[in-house]
Amino acid sequence: MSHNIGIVGAGSIGIGWAVVFATAGYRVHVCEVNEDAAQKALPRIKEIVSRLNHFGLESQSPEHICEFISVYSELAPALSNCDFVFEAGPENLEQKIDLLGAISEIVPDHAVISSSSSAITASSSGLKVKGRERFLIVHPANPPFLIRVAEIVTTPETQDTVVDRVSELLTQANMSPVQLHKEQLGFAFNRLQGALLREAYSLVADGVLSAPDVDTLVREGLALRWAVTGPFVTSHLNVPGGLRAHAARMGSSYYQMALDRENTQPWSPELVDQVASEIEMEHPLTNWEHDVQDRDDGIMLIAQARAAHSAR
Ligand SMILES: NC(=O)c1ccc[n+]([C@@H]2O[C@H](COP(=O)([O-])OP(=O)(O)OC[C@H]3O[C@@H](n4cnc5c(N)ncnc54)[C@H](O)[C@@H]3O)[C@@H](O)[C@H]2O)c1
Repeated sequence: MSHNIGIVGAGSIGIGWAVVFATAGYRVHVCEVNEDAAQKALPRIKEIVSRLNHFGLESQSPEHICEFISVYSELAPALSNCDFVFEAGPENLEQKIDLLGAISEIVPDHAVISSSSSAITASSSGLKVKGRERFLIVHPANPPFLIRVAEIVTTPETQDTVVDRVSELLTQANMSPVQLHKEQLGFAFNRLQGALLREAYSLVADGVLSAPDVDTLVREGLALRWAVTGPFVTSHLNVPGGLRAHAARMGSSYYQMALDRENTQPWSPELVDQVASEIEMEHPLTNWEHDVQDRDDGIMLIAQARAAHSAR
């Protein structure tokens, strides 16, 4: 419980990890090379914790949480005493290879090193890591302090004990770790999200729906069930007789739909432009930060409701 947690990068994910671990009582050491981002880190964390307080999702004060967090501009003072490191630098393969290599030269030998990468596998980014048996991906969702799931993706070299240690840490920090049985591009979270986006873009490309109408169907429809059950339990509860009856009744239709979409590459620049223009009508980029805050407030209210549902 007295672990020191190192976080590299204070973008959305680094800040999110800092909130997750500091609110769970760990000492957090954040390294951020950009001066402006470094200066904004503690005020951003205070603001997040104050929103969590407001929605009853966190009882400790922002000032108390910030006592657990130190911000540095260099790797060595931040990481030399850390037991776990969460690399949350830019999603760029060359930068990750160098950054992770540098991290591994600084941290103690027992330290677990993880990358938060959304799609770059640890086998590709870990080429310069010293002690690759302690290196793996821990991929969070954004923001990690609200969507409390993390994918654990190992390389063939990662030791099982390292997976056990990081899983235990995440569980103690109120996260739900999910381990993939093998490495693959996009891991699993973004594969699932990608499947829905592929269909969403295709529906717009085919002139079936407008972009806002796709969002309405998901927001007002599918997402409400998915906030309570995953897609398999959703299928199980949708048809008397459960998942087997659902597969018997609907399997061939879903197969035809999948065949329909074979080999589609719907993210063409023209289509992205069309979808973005439709979405920006209601969500102009000038409102982006406000809209992110509004989304997070919405998730906080849902988190409250889900906690009440689980506690019944
Ligand atoms: N944003 C998301 O939705 C999301 C979700 C899950 C995972 N991720 C992954 O997490 C990682 C971070 O994502 P983000 O959105 O916070 O990125 P970001 O680009 O917003 O932030 C990265 C931060 O790292 C800093 N940085 C760059 N080089 C550094 C160095 N050498 N030492 C210390 N800090 C350094 C940058 O100044 C920046 O503040 C990426 O790999 C991303 O793919 C992002």
